[in-house]
Amino acid sequence: MGRRCWRRRALAAACLVAALLLLSALRPGLEGGAVGAGRPGGKSRSPLQRLHDLDQGPRSALAEVHRQRRDLLHRTCSRHTRRQRLLQPEDLRHVLVDDAHGLLYCYVPKVACTNWKRVLLALSGRAPPDPRAIPAHEAHAPGRLPSLADFSPAEVNRRLRAYLAFLFVREPFERLASAYRNKLERPYSAAFQRRFGTSIVRRLRPRPGPDALTRGHDVRFAEFLAYLLDPRTRRAGPFNEHWERAHALCHPCRLRYDVVGKFETLAEDAAFVLGLVGAPGLRFPEPPPRARAAATRDRAARLFRDISPFYQRRLFGLYRMDFLLFNYSAPSYLRLR
Ligand SMILES: *[C@@H]1O[C@H](CO)[C@@H](O)[C@H](O)[C@H]1NC(C)=O
Repeated sequence: MGRRCWRRRALAAACLVAALLLLSALRPGLEGGAVGAGRPGGKSRSPLQRLHDLDQGPRSALAEVHRQRRDLLHRTCSRHTRRQRLLQPEDLRHVLVDDAHGLLYCYVPKVACTNWKRVLLALSGRAPPDPRAIPAHEAHAPGRLPSLADFSPAEVNRRLRAYLAFLFVREPFERLASAYRNKLERPYSAAFQRRFGTSIVRRLRPRPGPDALTRGHDVRFAEFLAYLLDPRTRRAGPFNEHWERAHALCHPCRLRYDVVGKFETLAEDAAFVLGLVGAPGLRFPEPPPRARAAATRDRAARLFRDISPFYQRRLFGLYRMDFLLFNYSAPSYLRLR
């Protein structure tokens, strides 16, 4: 990259940071004042304005839950965030943009993100109107949905000010157990085993067999956790998005999120967001039945049962901010003392 170009990028990044700092001062709090510029296209109220309306009037129980989650997130952020690294455009990679409706969605893998991408595609009108008819690979195809990282600082700023920003989170260890199962233990394809499994085996297994070294197909949960806690892993680069902490993907202490949805209450929370979008007729794809949710929880408990208290504590430390920011308590099966 040429020197001038580099300078321009550095400047753009600095502007973005300044713009975002300004933004947190300018964006009206949801409790008071009028909400920004109005909806793109100008006709009806934007999702952000609808949320504001909800907060002004007598609140429904669900709106109250969401207000409390938002407050807790802000309080926890102000208590725990020290000086922060400057926000770079690349940090906005996971924030997907729907200009037609005025939405920003930060996707966290293993938290119904395929279905949210399907819904955003259906909303965009560039895909079948029934989200369930959109194949997963199409929902994940790069560039299918624009990301906030693709816009100039001024354009980013405008969207952050006027759009409803939301994300969906999940109990961190259940998400981790789900990532392990889907990507390493019983993958849909061998790609993750070859990419991550082989290097985990090579690095952490004392006497690896030749088959494991080439296929990386039999990584145990304990080995996976040791890989996450190994300082060399973080030094080599950010975690893969399937096990990266939600706060490191979405930066909830620097971007203002209006709605924090939870995987544990996916159906209600998705309906809440779609209600704000004002897309009657669009239904979020049916989440897994409660029985399967309970099975997922049991599986996480079973996986962690065999992990030593020492590793459990260190892993809890690694994911601690996700527990705190999104109000998850330490799972009862953990032995933290
Ligand atoms: C946090 O979680 C606890 C326990 O599940 C719950 O009682 C409380 O209402 C939650 N607080 C917020 C702000 O969501």
